[in-house]
Amino acid sequence: MLIELLHWLTTPAPLAHRRRGYVRESVLLLSRSRRCRSAWAGHLERSRAAVIAACANLPRRRIAVVLGSGLLQDVPLAHLAERFEAVHLVDAVHLWPARRAVRAYPNVRLVTADLTGLSGGSASLHDLCAGADVDFVVSANVLSQLPILPLDRPGPQPPDLGRRIVAAHLDGLAALAARVCLLTDVEQVEEDRAGRVTDRLDLLHGVRLGEPDRRWTWDLAPFGEAARDMRQRHQVQAFLDWRGPET
Ligand SMILES: C[S@@+](CC[C@H](N)C(=O)[O-])C[C@H]1O[C@@H](n2cnc3c(N)ncnc32)[C@H](O)[C@@H]1O
Repeated sequence: MLIELLHWLTTPAPLAHRRRGYVRESVLLLSRSRRCRSAWAGHLERSRAAVIAACANLPRRRIAVVLGSGLLQDVPLAHLAERFEAVHLVDAVHLWPARRAVRAYPNVRLVTADLTGLSGGSASLHDLCAGADVDFVVSANVLSQLPILPLDRPGPQPPDLGRRIVAAHLDGLAALAARVCLLTDVEQVEEDRAGRVTDRLDLLHGVRLGEPDRRWTWDLAPFGEAARDMRQRHQVQAFLDWRGPET
């Protein structure tokens, strides 16, 4: 609790991101990732392996951009830093563990941006990724997160805001000339101890992606994490060369 408060107080972040809850959410993610270290290990390993496979045969390796780099747990940072001339890590918030990790790599830089494009003045996905020298872009388990805080805001929202945010990110990725690796959870399944499914949640608000190159299950909240007799598992999909959503 004290550690969480310290992170919340000391993490450098734009006031708008702090007010919108991005710092709080990142600190909660950090705490949960520590509690669920062993349950998350397989998911994180598969995510890193997908990124490595996605950039294996690239003819040029100038800039790699990682969207939603967060705690760098699903990002093979050393691999990218050794193979690309520069690596740009983009997130709404970079907590201290990520800030410390990048110090070892002079060619890695942190970029703070709101990827929904809803914060005035924040760089757009196009600004961040469409440069002629960007050869590789990873959307690193960020897509399903993008609508969460905007949908939480008080006051009236457009009815299809979640779907629009998801679709805009996917369309933005599909328009890039760079190789795009898309990693995303697509569905949350809640189960009781008898293995019965008690709830399902579409994390992409009705947007369908098509057939992934790889898929796996992420034990997001094992029994005892969110509730004693319920666990939450996320279905994750990886596209190693993303071209656009299913039409
Ligand atoms: C599930 S985490 C992704 C895991 C991350 N790749 C890692 O290895 O730790 C989701 C990330 O999305 C970021 N995020 C959520 N909404 C965002 C937004 N609107 N703009 C930029 N980043 C956002 C969060 O700060 C968080 O780091």
